[in-house]
Amino acid sequence: MSADKNETRADPRLDAILKEEMARQRFKLEMIASENFVSPQVLRIAASVFTNKYAEGYPGKRYYGGCEYADELESLTQHRARKLFAAEHANVQPHCGSSANMAAYLALINPGDLILGMNLAHGGHLTHGAPASFSGRFFKGAYYGVREDSELIDYDQVDRLAEELKPRLIITGASSYPRIIDFERFRRAADRAGAFLVVDMAHFAGLVAAGLYPSPVPVSDIVTSTTHKTLRGPRGGLILSRKAHARAVDEAVFPGTQGGPLLHIVAAKAQALQEALEPDFIDYQRQILKNTARLASHLLDAGYRLVSGGTDTHLVLVDLRPKNITGQAAETALDKAGITANKNVIPFDKARFQVTSGLRLGTAALTTRGLIETDIDQVADFVVSALRRVDDEAALKKISDMVKVFLERFPLYPDLDF
Ligand SMILES: Cc1ncc(COP(=O)(O)O)c(C=O)c1O
Repeated sequence: MSADKNETRADPRLDAILKEEMARQRFKLEMIASENFVSPQVLRIAASVFTNKYAEGYPGKRYYGGCEYADELESLTQHRARKLFAAEHANVQPHCGSSANMAAYLALINPGDLILGMNLAHGGHLTHGAPASFSGRFFKGAYYGVREDSELIDYDQVDRLAEELKPRLIITGASSYPRIIDFERFRRAADRAGAFLVVDMAHFAGLVAAGLYPSPVPVSDIVTSTTHKTLRGPRGGLILSRKAHARAVDEAVFPGTQGGPLLHIVAAKAQALQEALEPDFIDYQRQILKNTARLASHLLDAGYRLVSGGTDTHLVLVDLRPKNITGQAAETALDKAGITANKNVIPFDKARFQVTSGLRLGTAALTTRGLIETDIDQVADFVVSALRRVDDEAALKKISDMVKVFLERFPLYPDLDF
């Protein structure tokens, strides 16, 4: 691109990378539980001219000129978020889930205060007080986990820790917890401790939107989310809150933790939120649950143990120990077989974080491609066959060839080059 002329010039290296990524997404089974495929409209809007616009501040209170359409856009997006989740206040500016959580803490508590969050090794998220993240460095972290017998959240432990430690804030929501969380129980624990309650619904926001998972909104001070997982929007974050916290939340996002919003992404969020308000979004989320249940039942039939025995959501957490495979070996083998997934710690895992004994599998992305239960039968067969032959390169290659043929029935972005 020349300095004086904003002309487009072919960049073969970059084009090739984008084309390869397009092919990877098209021809592999996407089973990472935190991923999805946005609609062509969301994709188009995410690449819109709003990427050019600065709009620090909020509708009607900007630090830049030329924000009349930015204001209209952001107000519309906020309105859709409030409507979808029946929330009193929505901030649609967080760049991602982590920044949404950072802003939630800044809105409610002070540096050095104690956060009670879910143990990362039991399914929590780094930003819930883990020492490696800002959340465990700027704040103090204490952790609850799951019970060893049921692998369900140990609510008695939550009560005990809340009473003993008197945290300023309790956060729940998780990255690899396949069950419904009892938000009311968390609310009671928070009330007894005089703590704020934040729920990070990043993983299951789409299910909440569809009414298939209890909404944390009525009982939480703040609800944070990503917009790109089951909600099927662009990569980004979202904060919902009670009116009483609206000002603190907005100030915590800007100027507290971010500069100008990514308006092209805010616009794509508006599109995704509208899609989530349509009745067929409920059918989509229902199908995710059916597909995950079907996958779970195949894995159990094949002799795998599932953490907590099954799932209520879009994901399963597979304990690979009965098969003597590590999470790392499973992830690598599946990738060779054309299946993208991630190794994952399981509760009370003895393996190192980089290796793990578990595998997290989700169906949100495959369901977007149109797969239904009978297709999941085939997918489960691919997964089980690959895990049976983790060291057999030829067999894995053969599965990946079959995956490619199988996925031809489910075209992804057929009108796009990349
Ligand atoms: C529960 C939860 N919260 C927050 C995040 C962070 O989101 P992001 O990667 O957009 O910062 C994740 C990401 O996986 C998550 O699972």
